[in-house]
Amino acid sequence: MGSGIAEVLARSALDVLVVERDQEALDAGRQRVLTSLAKARATGKISEDDSRRALDRLSFSIDIGDLRDYPFIIEAVAEDHAVKLDVFRRLDEVLVDGGAIMASNTSSIPIAALAAATSRPENVIGLHFFNPVPVMKLVEITPSLLTSDETLATARRLAGERLAKTPITSPDRAGFVVNALLIPYLLSAIRMFEAGVATAEDIDTGMTLGCAHPMGPLALTDLIGLDTTAAVAESLYAEFRESHFATPPLLSRMIAAGQLGRKSGQGFYSYRR
Ligand code: CAA
Repeated sequence: MGSGIAEVLARSALDVLVVERDQEALDAGRQRVLTSLAKARATGKISEDDSRRALDRLSFSIDIGDLRDYPFIIEAVAEDHAVKLDVFRRLDEVLVDGGAIMASNTSSIPIAALAAATSRPENVIGLHFFNPVPVMKLVEITPSLLTSDETLATARRLAGERLAKTPITSPDRAGFVVNALLIPYLLSAIRMFEAGVATAEDIDTGMTLGCAHPMGPLALTDLIGLDTTAAVAESLYAEFRESHFATPPLLSRMIAAGQLGRKSGQGFYSYRR
């Protein structure tokens, strides 16, 4: 999602520095932006000139220290509590501007926990985008108990005015609004498939043609990533202890087998060419 967020920011005339963990991730991220912009050009969503200008506003680095002078950071690392806490601790060390805002694209980890890892919890907020970011209009904005009104107002202005997304304010509880509803639905579809009730194609066709969803739940799980879906489910289960948030065995086994969805080439469907 980081590449989608970077693309949307750059297309909104903001200078963006993308920090990746290593050169391989940097190359892959840059390639994702190029591919997405090519699609936007091909479908008439952006002109050649605007696409070039957006690319010119993007720079890449593998040194988190290069973020030191930036006023607004959006973290979009793996949906893993320890990894995110580590990033927030490191950001807190490098940021020079005491007012710099640290936002997280987490979909399930408490914003209060990320805030507590920093020396400026009032500047930490949730800014949750949806996949694919250039296409999806929603951003969930989640202040923690410690977030200042000023940080919330700045985040709302960025999402709603500058990026022209539609922000909703979500509570700081696992899954916020959207994933608290979406994840049980995806897990139910996986359980239905696992029980042999219907084929993947029939489950997805049922929901696309029967309920006018743009894609079915198994294709959507492939798009989100099976590992990310399971990580969000685990956060929800840890918070609420409700059985509809429990990870189905098939999901765990597919992850163990490296079948992570689109990004790995195989999930409930195959994406290999
Ligand atoms: N910039 C702007 N527009 C772009 C673009 C880009 N970089 N790339 C594609 N588009 C546009 C296309 O022009 C096209 O526009 P039109 O509809 O006006 O023609 C549209 O996006 C979709 O085009 P595609 O041909 O790529 O594909 P599609 O029609 O098969 O739709 C999809 C694909 C957008 C993914 C659609 O199936 C969909 O909306 N699926 C549901 C996605 C969803 O639910 N996402 C949320 C997941 S949950 C999440 O992300 C959060 C979490 O925490 C887990």
